[in-house]
Amino acid sequence: MSLPVLERWLDAVLAMPGLTAIRDPAQARAVLLEDALRATTIVAATEGPIVDVGSGGGTPGIPLAASLPDRPVTLLEAERRKCVFLETWIPELPNLSVTWGRAEEQERERFGVAVAKALAHPPTAAEWCLPLVGEGGLVVLWVGETAEQDRVAAVAAEIAGEVEASPPGLILIRKTGPTPQRFPRRTGVARKRPLA
Ligand SMILES: C[S@@+](CC[C@H](N)C(=O)[O-])C[C@H]1O[C@@H](n2cnc3c(N)ncnc32)[C@H](O)[C@@H]1O
Repeated sequence: MSLPVLERWLDAVLAMPGLTAIRDPAQARAVLLEDALRATTIVAATEGPIVDVGSGGGTPGIPLAASLPDRPVTLLEAERRKCVFLETWIPELPNLSVTWGRAEEQERERFGVAVAKALAHPPTAAEWCLPLVGEGGLVVLWVGETAEQDRVAAVAAEIAGEVEASPPGLILIRKTGPTPQRFPRRTGVARKRPLA
């Protein structure tokens, strides 16, 4: 059994149209909640504020915020409608904040850890997330079985990032230096012209 707030959040995500395509409560628990929580120890090991990029209905950011109450967690989401839903959880999770906007348009290096689940193809997600974390920071991408780890490593190398040994289903990227001036590229460019 997880924290009561997470049970209420899971029910609310399923009840609200357009937040997840998953209809089966057991599958929703596995994908939206348990899969997010398995990164808790990894995220906890790197200092600094956390950002969940493309948070959608709030995963992995809300499970992580509930499990790490001493860490500020920002849910960054491009769709206003989803942000309205996400904001309803702030009274229950005082370490939570919500930003309506795109990853490519945020202040650089404001965070210690950036997490992203189902945000975009992993090379694009890596390009969007790496500028958001400072030197020594960490990017955690949830990926499928066919994730192109070599392409992610090639993208990371251009943005002062190095792929670390990663558990199955995750790609961990360490930020090893300052973000080169040319990142983030303009909105839309990472998708249209991937670096690798
Ligand atoms: C497929 S959903 C995944 C949501 C959630 N992370 C999950 O695993 O259920 C991807 C989300 O990323 C948001 N998004 C896409 N591109 C974005 C960007 N560049 N910056 C911020 N959010 C973005 C979309 O609006 C959408 O809500």
